[in-house]
Amino acid sequence: MRKMMIAGNWKMHNDNAQAQQLANQIKIKTTAETNVEIVVCPTFTALSVVNDILKGSHVILGAQNMFWEAQGAYTGEISASMLKSCGVRYVILGHSERRQYFGETDETVNKRLRAVLENGLKAIVCVGETLEEREAGRAREVIDRQINGAFAGIDAAAFSAIVVAYEPVWAIGTGKTASPEQAQEIHAHLRQRIEERYGADTASALRILYGGSVKPANARELLSQPDLDGALVGGACLKAETFVPIIQTAGELSA
Ligand code: PGA
Repeated sequence: MRKMMIAGNWKMHNDNAQAQQLANQIKIKTTAETNVEIVVCPTFTALSVVNDILKGSHVILGAQNMFWEAQGAYTGEISASMLKSCGVRYVILGHSERRQYFGETDETVNKRLRAVLENGLKAIVCVGETLEEREAGRAREVIDRQINGAFAGIDAAAFSAIVVAYEPVWAIGTGKTASPEQAQEIHAHLRQRIEERYGADTASALRILYGGSVKPANARELLSQPDLDGALVGGACLKAETFVPIIQTAGELSA
C-alpha cells in the first residue's frame, strides 16, 4: 500500500515571516493526518526558519532544487550538505519552470538525482509534456524521454528514495487541470514503463504524484484514481485554507 504524499511547492513566494506563519498553520492544522506524508518546499532562504518550526513534527521539509557538486566556485548554487544542514529531506528536481526558464535538461536532472541519492536525500522528480506536445500526440513519448534521461544509471534499489510527479506543463498555474482520466492514463503509463525497466515490485511501490492546478475542489476526483498517489501543489499550497483541505482529502481516501 503506497502512502499518499501531498507536497507543497512554494515556488518564489513568502518572505521569512510569511513562511514561518504558513508552516506553523500547516503543522497545527494537520496533526490528525497520520495517513498522509506532508511535505513543504519553501525557498532556500526560508528553509532554516521553516525547519525550526517543523522540527520534531510530522511535516517534512523539502527544497525546490539542488546543485550536484559538493562545494566550490559555483556562485548562486546550493549543495546537498547545505540542504541537509537546514533539515531538508526531499528535493524537487526537474520542475518544468526550471526546464523552461533555467536551462534544466534531462541530463542535468540525472546529475542532480545522483547527487541527491548519494547524499541520502530523497527526490521528487518532475516530468510532463507541453500543450504543443500533447496536441501533437507526443505526451507519452516526451515522458519516456524524460524518465529515461532522469533515471539513466539509476538502479531499482534507489527507487525507495524517489517519488515521481507528473505535471503536464499546460496545467501548471493555468487553472486547467488534467481530467482524472487524462492523469490516470499517464500515471498508468509511467508505472508500466518503470515496471518494464525495474520490475513489478519497484513499480508498485513507486509513488506518482499529480501536479497542475490541484485545489480542494478537484483533489478528490484526481486522488481517487488508482495510480495517483498524491499531489504536488503550487498555487493552492500558499494558504493553509486551501492546502490543508487537500491533505484532509488524501487522508480520507487513505482511511
Ligand atoms: P500549480 O503548480 O498547482 O500552481 O498549478 C503546480 C506545480 O508547479 O508544482
